[in-house]
Amino acid sequence: MANIIDGKALSKETRQHVKEEVSRLEKEHGKTPHLVVVLVGEDPASQSYVRGKERACKRAGIRSTKIEKDASISEEALLNLVNELNSDPEVHGILVQLPLPAHIDSNRVIETIAQKKDVDGFHPLNIAALQIGTKGVLPATPKGIMTMLNSIDIDLQGKKALVIGRSNIVGKPIAHLLLKNHATVTMAHSRTNDLAWEAKQADVIIAAAGKAKMVTGDMIKEGAVVIDVGVNRVDDKLIGDVDFDSAEKKASYITPVPGGVGPMTITSLLQNTVECFKHIENI
Ligand code: GUN
Repeated sequence: MANIIDGKALSKETRQHVKEEVSRLEKEHGKTPHLVVVLVGEDPASQSYVRGKERACKRAGIRSTKIEKDASISEEALLNLVNELNSDPEVHGILVQLPLPAHIDSNRVIETIAQKKDVDGFHPLNIAALQIGTKGVLPATPKGIMTMLNSIDIDLQGKKALVIGRSNIVGKPIAHLLLKNHATVTMAHSRTNDLAWEAKQADVIIAAAGKAKMVTGDMIKEGAVVIDVGVNRVDDKLIGDVDFDSAEKKASYITPVPGGVGPMTITSLLQNTVECFKHIENI
């Protein structure tokens, strides 16, 4: 039976550290980190994510402002808003909730956010920093995964890691972070010939393909560490990319869904907001 990496508990502990740091920064510098979240349109999932982010900020003592815009907002108007936030010294972090309406070029919006205020770590310069190995803001989900791996004291050096899924938000950045930690990284995706074989070689599996229960116990090497990034809604339930019941019989450590990577993502966002604050305020 695998040990569970409890994302909820780890988040609680990490968020407490963030809260203490915010409080210390306020005392020592008289300023509070401020995150602005821009929500365009009325997508219920996005509204719910943004509510979660605001709640987490509030609990950690981070100031947050939500700016809601109608789905009909023009790209130019949204870019103008981002530019205003870029030059506002009272704003330390900017997050434009994705997806954006089809008439808006998301890449243009992301590129317009000042690199030092890009709490999502989606700006091309932050992505480049991750690839080169220089300092930048890490995307929240991969950062949360690394916090989880660090929590079990795994030495990644020389380990075989399989990343399933090649998204810009999770697959590609987590592959770079694993590489940076000296793992031997393989990337699998929808066109991979023999996923079961690839998985069987892996000491660490990061399942981030967005396909419910695609990784099953029979694909997993005995003692592997399995991180499930999947959040698939099936019959109104949240189901991971890993078939938990069969996988936990083989894995040494496994993350549940829900209560695994999900809470860590918002926790990383809080950490990123504090990091951006310190960078901007020269602390
Ligand atoms: N939509 C779903 N997840 C995210 C995220 O992490 N950041 C942003 N900006 N939009 C999202």
